[in-house]
Amino acid sequence: MLDASLSQSDLAIDVRGLTKTFGKRTAVDHVDITMPRGQVWGFLGPNGSGKTTTIRMLCGLLKPDAGQGTCLGYDILKQSREIKREIGYMTQKFSYWEDLSIRENLEFVANLYGIKNRRQVIDRALEDLGLTTRQKQLAGTLSGGWKQRLALAACTLHDPKMLMLDEPTAGVDPQARRDFWDQIHRLSAQGLTVLVSTHYMDEAERCDQIVYIAYGKLMTQGRVEDIIAGSGLYTFVAEGSSVRDLMERLRGQPGADHVAYFGNALHVSGGDLGALRKLVAGHSGMPGVQWHQMRPSLEDVFIHLMGQSTDNAGGR
Ligand SMILES: Nc1ncnc2c1ncn2[C@@H]1O[C@H](COP(=O)(O)OP(=O)(O)OP(=O)(O)O)[C@@H](O)[C@H]1O
Ligand SMILES: [Mg+2]
Repeated sequence: MLDASLSQSDLAIDVRGLTKTFGKRTAVDHVDITMPRGQVWGFLGPNGSGKTTTIRMLCGLLKPDAGQGTCLGYDILKQSREIKREIGYMTQKFSYWEDLSIRENLEFVANLYGIKNRRQVIDRALEDLGLTTRQKQLAGTLSGGWKQRLALAACTLHDPKMLMLDEPTAGVDPQARRDFWDQIHRLSAQGLTVLVSTHYMDEAERCDQIVYIAYGKLMTQGRVEDIIAGSGLYTFVAEGSSVRDLMERLRGQPGADHVAYFGNALHVSGGDLGALRKLVAGHSGMPGVQWHQMRPSLEDVFIHLMGQSTDNAGGR
């Protein structure tokens, strides 16, 4: 939970009631976020839940229909210029020039920001992100992981105080994702605040705190451990050679809110521990199946939250 003694100047983001509607659809619905400076926060939620829209409002790129607050101490409604100057925003889609080299792309961005000592700044960015030997390579010929490094170099070139990274590792292989996260933590150690949206649970676990939204509504916010502990969800795991037969038998039974495979194990989760225990007891003693209770995974909790929000959204 957030330390109540934090003052306004300790906060990177402090927004209340952030709302954005596109036509009849409320993409972001009264979202409150209070994020201290210097941390790495994960921003999670299903497709179309409003992450990009929220990020764009926080950056001052999109005007909310309702709500107010500050980003880096600047008013998100009135000081978007100041915010843009101090934020490094990496968009969800690769948005650099594919027919320019890495270096040329960075030169272009440096010009846009009017960066002084351009040559030195670019040399350093190339070096920091291991791009020096590839600087003449055309951006369009880079693999996904290298493209993301270029995008990270570009959005940190103007020495921002905060990074907003929108699904920076989507479609990137595991090694490149790991390297990317090492870079994020390196930048965080230098004092940058980072908000990063992702669909990957392992990435969520690397964050100081996470925010989870579904259908535009903030569902939960906090440390991974606290979110799991506070979810009110219980999980039993069935392992063994016969678990495949169990899946259909357990689905829809009282106590089993969610039944899903993880590797070779079946996770059965629910909010009613008594009913869940009864269900498990009724299916224990089967040959080739062993049961044990475990801490729900973050994914179990998110699927649970998503189910709740779907109910709230009238089955949307
Ligand atoms: N400019 C726009 N005009 C109309 N509708 C929009 C616009 N931008 C977003 N939306 C809608 O708002 C909702 C939220 O979209 P948003 O892109 O913020 O979600 P997201 O959480 O970033 O999704 P994803 O995980 O797929 O990137 C979606 O229903 C989307 O179709
Ligand atoms: Mg998005």
